[in-house]
Amino acid sequence: MRIDILTIFPEMFEGPFSHSIVKRAKEKGLVEIHLHNIRDYATDKHRRVDDYPFGGGAGMVMMIEPVLHCVDALKAQRVYDEVIFMTPDGELFDQPLANQLSIQENLILLCGHYKGIDERLREHVITREISIGDYVLSGGELAAAVVADSVVRLIPGVLGDETSALSDSFQDGLLSPPVYTRPADYKGWKVPEILLSGHDRKIAEWRHEKAVERTQKRRPGLLDHE
Ligand code: ADE
Repeated sequence: MRIDILTIFPEMFEGPFSHSIVKRAKEKGLVEIHLHNIRDYATDKHRRVDDYPFGGGAGMVMMIEPVLHCVDALKAQRVYDEVIFMTPDGELFDQPLANQLSIQENLILLCGHYKGIDERLREHVITREISIGDYVLSGGELAAAVVADSVVRLIPGVLGDETSALSDSFQDGLLSPPVYTRPADYKGWKVPEILLSGHDRKIAEWRHEKAVERTQKRRPGLLDHE
């Protein structure tokens, strides 16, 4: 998979993509993540990427040309499955959408800033709009990092068997059951006996039961989507 991220703050991605699972996925050659500074595609000498909104009002609007030039330069090199705009008024991101994106070949993620982007980009260039939650971030960068991280870990081969994404919370529509590690008894705080029994089938049943219990208690809405 290849992910191209269009941003005016490429430095913001140095941390999230340089550690842990995403770092390993890049090293294994399972994903390429390319950052593009939209400012490099500006057409004037001040490298301007935003302008005042027609009709007045507060805030600046990201201009068509720098974004479009960057997208066009990428599209000239390969076919993209989606050109995604990160925005709080987009479709809410969830695990099924992460799964869907993880089987794509080439994705563009566009990070917005200021008051928004010129609506004509949304009409003619963007194929999908994603929000990571009902709150407003300063820009789309953190949202793009969230989407990229959750998608990359689902690419086949990124996680080993022991950390398989299949056992993640949400993957089967349930939250994860509780987990424990040594010591089995910490000053009287005991691990449930069943987990020490070595009885695989009973342990699997117990985990499922706990997952359902936890989901019912914390996120009952998840159980309605069966
Ligand atoms: N940009 C600003 N807020 C956002 C959000 N909640 N999701 C996606 N992109 C955003």
